[in-house]
Amino acid sequence: MAARVGSRGVTLSSRRLTKQARAILAKASSPLGAAPRRNAPVLTRATIVILEHEGKSIEVECDGYESVLEAALDAGVENLSYDCKMGVCMTCPSRLKAGEVDQGGAMLSDDVVEKGFALLCCAVPVGDGVVIQTVTEEELLDEQLQGGAM
Ligand code: FES
Repeated sequence: MAARVGSRGVTLSSRRLTKQARAILAKASSPLGAAPRRNAPVLTRATIVILEHEGKSIEVECDGYESVLEAALDAGVENLSYDCKMGVCMTCPSRLKAGEVDQGGAMLSDDVVEKGFALLCCAVPVGDGVVIQTVTEEELLDEQLQGGAM
């Protein structure tokens, strides 16, 4: 990873920052030293999330700032469905089975979220005990159409 310091600050030219670098950048970009992503509380320590994917339960360590998708990709979980990583394309649907996640950037309707759906790319654990299961895009779409959302 190469870093360059210019008049606008530090520019990192790496496609993949380490977890520690992301945490430092997140803290540095906030005047209060907290994660700037959302208003909901965010863990400032690592937590283990159980990701149920393709019939397996996989422990994924989230650093308190990254989404479950980023943590799973960092951990080498294969065959995850995703594209935009911004909560827009809806190709990373999941169902929250336990615990709580902040998914403030996700473009999911409130009623779908209340039914337990989440987007892995936006789901940031806000406590311990998160269990989240990947689901198909069809499951999410069916739920959205039933609710008349989107
Ligand atoms: S990757 Fe596009 S919504 Fe998650």
